[in-house]
Amino acid sequence: MREGILSGNAVALIVAGAVLASGSQALAQATPAKREAPIELKADASPRPWKRYPGWPARDYSKYNTLANLATPPAPKEPRKLTGPITGDAKKGAELVADRARGGSCLACHVMGPAGGANLPGNVAPDLSEIGNAGREDEWLFNYVYDARVYNPETVMPPWGSHGFFDEAEINDIVAFLKTLKSPAVFKTELDNPEKRPVPVEKRDNLDPIENPAMWAVEKAEALFKQRTASGFACATCHNDPKTQFKTWAAAMPKWEPRLNKVLGVEEFITRHAKATTGADWMMETDDNRAMSVYLHFLANGEPIKVDTASAEAKAAIARGVELSKRKVGQLNMACTDCHGIAANKWIRGQWLGEPKGQYDHFPTWRTNLLAIWDIRQRFQWCQVNIRADELPPDAKEYGDLEFYLATQNEGLKLSVPGIRH
Ligand code: HEC
Ligand code: HEC
Ligand code: HEC
Repeated sequence: MREGILSGNAVALIVAGAVLASGSQALAQATPAKREAPIELKADASPRPWKRYPGWPARDYSKYNTLANLATPPAPKEPRKLTGPITGDAKKGAELVADRARGGSCLACHVMGPAGGANLPGNVAPDLSEIGNAGREDEWLFNYVYDARVYNPETVMPPWGSHGFFDEAEINDIVAFLKTLKSPAVFKTELDNPEKRPVPVEKRDNLDPIENPAMWAVEKAEALFKQRTASGFACATCHNDPKTQFKTWAAAMPKWEPRLNKVLGVEEFITRHAKATTGADWMMETDDNRAMSVYLHFLANGEPIKVDTASAEAKAAIARGVELSKRKVGQLNMACTDCHGIAANKWIRGQWLGEPKGQYDHFPTWRTNLLAIWDIRQRFQWCQVNIRADELPPDAKEYGDLEFYLATQNEGLKLSVPGIRH
């Protein structure tokens, strides 16, 4: 069946495999065994230009790479020469390394002796509590902080100087502070020590509506499914037994969609399929879209994730996803793999970093600290804005490639939606 069958005035009603159409042409097209789901092909599935969610940082990071656009200025080729020894103010430096307003600053990744305090320092990076004994040259320390890429092009460290988090005088202060660090860190409590801090374990019953408010979305979507739009159609008009028909569907998403020439995820499918069938306007990241996504995933709960990677196009999309996951983006100049690969199973500040396996099977998920449902694309968007990179619209093809790759990393895990996360 072609998507055109339901557009314009060709009214088609598909019930249990029979097609009742006003035009005989439509009937003739409807015979193949596996029908394709009609989808809207032209319009975007989210607003353009994309506007950042209210409450998210409003800063503009367009000077730096995004997943769609390369803009980051090239790394310096040579270390900067110091004209004399470092004469910064170590006390000021101690404050700067703990200043979260400076891109999270140093304690997000390093333990730094006395500066740890109640800051929940992370352990993504080496403990610098004794760096003052390491015999590092001032110039080396200055440059490592200013822009570590001059010594290590693959560094996980953000380029604090080149990307404008600290000016030279402030980096002088920081280096002066680093030089005072000469004895092992002392932690007031085990919580302060990232090596001892207990790893979070999610034990709540995510299918209990009292524990997980996102279960309301299942009820809401059941009602939406039956609700007729102005067209006279409801989802239920054509799908009278969704529990059976969609028992495995969401576990095989996303997929390569040749009609769109991109990877299609569940949420974008909902927008496009609703538009083409009932006419409902369920743009991505609206409450109705999220609720329907929770519901369609919920119907496939317990089903192992298994995506279709057979075609050359699918393989190419996954390969692009792998590359995107390694692309340094934003003012902090970080890639997905910096946090979820190299630094996985470590602490960034008070947050435990997951690895790709286990990051996908529970989406859309309830965010307990935000009292909101996030789908996977919104999670991608936050992981960009959080490192000070401009996010893409949720239906961006780059997110499709990334989601496809992530799904392959989660193959075999059973869907458990709606998830529940901090
Ligand atoms: C996102 C995590 C991250 C943050 C935040 C971070 N660093 Fe690092 N840093 C690293 C990693 C990882 C290394 C190890 C080598 C590498 O990847 O370059 C490192 C290495 C270093 C080194 C070299 C240590 C050595 O002896 O080899 C210094 C000095 C340093 N960081 C200072 C700082 C300072 C000062 C700040 C704050 C302005 C800071 N770091 C913030 C991740 C981070
Ligand atoms: C006019 C008929 C019609 C309506 C209305 C309709 N669908 Fe479909 N839907 C189809 C057809 C045809 C397919 C292709 C598979 C099949 O034959 O069931 C499909 C497939 C699907 C699939 C599986 C996707 C796939 O690739 O096979 C899902 C999920 C789905 N529909 C959900 C919905 C939801 C949610 C709504 C309400 C917005 C809805 N449908 C409304 C006709 C319809
Ligand atoms: C600066 C570090 C950082 C970077 C870079 C980063 N993330 Fe995250 N990400 C986090 C943190 C912190 C969390 C919340 C804790 C967790 O679940 O790992 C998170 C959570 C996630 C989750 C949800 C995990 C879950 O179990 O619910 C996904 C999916 C994810 N990130 C994907 C990505 C992708 C894809 C990229 C690259 C586009 C990326 N992240 C880049 C820090 C990062």
